[in-house]
Amino acid sequence: MIFFLCFLGALIIVLGSLFLRRRPRPVEDKTGNVLKIQDLRTLKDRHETASILLELFDKDGAGAWPPKANHDSWPLALRPYKDIYLELAPLLTTTEPSLDDNVNNKRRNKYRSLMRKLLTERINIAQVEEIMAAVEAGNWDILPRDAYNGFYACVAVCRYAYRWAIIPVVKVAQLEKVVDFPQELDAPWPYLQRNFGVTAESGNNTANVLHNFNERGERVYKINVGMSYLIRSSEEVFFRMFYDLEVLAFPIYYEMVRAVICFEENDKVSCVNHLENIAFRLRHLLRVFYENLTESRISHSVWLRYVQGFQGWGVGRMVDGELIKYDGLSGNHVLFFQALDAFLGMDRYLTDENMIRYIPINQRELCIALNEHSFRNKLKEHSDMKIEDEVRKIVNHLKVFRAAHKARVMPYLEQPAPERLTMTAGKSVLEGPTTKDTKEALKVLDQMLATRLKETV
Ligand code: HEM
Repeated sequence: MIFFLCFLGALIIVLGSLFLRRRPRPVEDKTGNVLKIQDLRTLKDRHETASILLELFDKDGAGAWPPKANHDSWPLALRPYKDIYLELAPLLTTTEPSLDDNVNNKRRNKYRSLMRKLLTERINIAQVEEIMAAVEAGNWDILPRDAYNGFYACVAVCRYAYRWAIIPVVKVAQLEKVVDFPQELDAPWPYLQRNFGVTAESGNNTANVLHNFNERGERVYKINVGMSYLIRSSEEVFFRMFYDLEVLAFPIYYEMVRAVICFEENDKVSCVNHLENIAFRLRHLLRVFYENLTESRISHSVWLRYVQGFQGWGVGRMVDGELIKYDGLSGNHVLFFQALDAFLGMDRYLTDENMIRYIPINQRELCIALNEHSFRNKLKEHSDMKIEDEVRKIVNHLKVFRAAHKARVMPYLEQPAPERLTMTAGKSVLEGPTTKDTKEALKVLDQMLATRLKETV
C-alpha cells in the first residue's frame, strides 16, 4: 500500500511538472503589472493615453517600468566604458576636500588625464559610432533596449565624473564654463540624446538614476566608493528612493489612464473607483519619500558634499558668442510628479526649454496627453460630487508632499561646504553678483517651492 501511494505521488509530481512546463508562462515584469499591461494593449487603439503609456513601457522601459537596464551584455566595443568608470571610481572622492585651488586642480587634472588615457587606449571610437548608428537605423539586435539603457547610464555618469573630476565639488570646478570632453565621451552622446529626444549636454534623472539599477536591483555606478558607511548608505538610500517611487508610480499611471477613459465614456462609477485607487496608492508611494528623506536614513552632514554634488552640472557651450549652460539633476525631473500635475490639469512646473533638455520625449508625451485629457475642469457641480471628492483627496496628498518636501530639503541645502559656492544640482551655482550669501541664494529656492505649493489647489 505504502509503495503504491509513493508511486502515485511521484506520478502526480511528474505529470504536474510536465503540465506546468507546457503552459505558457505570462511575461512577468518585475513589478507584477502583467494584467495592467495586457489591459493597456487592449486599450491602445481606444485612447492615446493608453498607447503612450504602453510605448513608454515597451520602448523606453525595455518591457518594464521603471526602465530595465542591462549593464553586462554589451557589444565588446562598449564594455571598456563601464570598466573605466569602475576602475577610476575610488580616485574620485576625497574624505576632506582642500580649500586650495591649486591642490584641487592638480587632483582634478590627474583624474582627467587618467580617464583620457584609459579611454584612448581602450575605446575604438569608429566602432562605437558604428554601433550607435546601426541602432539609430533601427537595428536593435546588436544593442537591445535594456542594454542601450544601461549604456546610456554609463556614458552619462562617465561624463559627470569627468566634469567634476573630484568629489566633493570644489570652487575651481564650479567656475569652469566649458569643458572639453574626451572624444570617446562625446561620440555616443548625441545618438543617446536623440534616441530619448532630449538635448542637454548633461544627463537627467532617467539616465543617471533610473538606468543605474541593474535587473537584480543593484546600483551599478556608485560615487563614493571606499568612503565611510554613513556616506555610502546615504548615497544608496537617496538614489534608491527615486527608483522605488517609480515602481509604485506605474500602477498609478495605469489608473490615471483608466480614470480618463471612464470619465470620457461617461462611466462615472468606474471613474470614482480608479480615483480611489490612485488616492490609496499615492499614500503608499509618498511614504517612500517620508520614510527615507530623514536624518537617520540620509545624513544631513554628508548629503550636500557627497551625494548631491556629483549630479550638478553648470557648464555648457559657446554658441554665437553666447554661453548655453546646462543644469544637472533635480527632483523636478521625476516623471511621477509631472504626470500627477498633468492629470490634475495643473500648469507644468518646468519650462518648455527644460522639458526638452532633460525629460525624455515619451515621458513628455505622456504628461501632455494626461493634461489634455484632464477632466478636473469639466466636473459639473452636484452631478460629479463623488469624483470631485476623490480628486480633492489626491490634491491634498500632493499638497502634504509639497509642504513636507519644502520643509525637509532646506536643512540638507544649508549644510556647510566651504570648498564650494552655493549650488543645487538642478539649478547649478546660485551665488553670483546679485546674491550675497548662501541664505539669500537658498531663499530663492524656498520661494520656488512655496509658489508651487500655493499653485497646488
Ligand atoms: C535632500 C534632498 C532634496 C533637496 C535638497 C531638494 C531640493 C529641491 C529644490 C531646491 C527644488 C526647487 C528647485 C528645482 O526645481 O530644482 C526641488 C524641486 C523638486 N523636488 Fe526636490 N529636493 C530633494 C529631494 C527630492 C526628492 C527625494 C523628491 C521626490 C521623490 C523631490 C522632488 C522634487 C520635485 C517634484 C520638485 C519640483 C517642484 C514640485 O513639483 O513641487 N525632491 N527640490
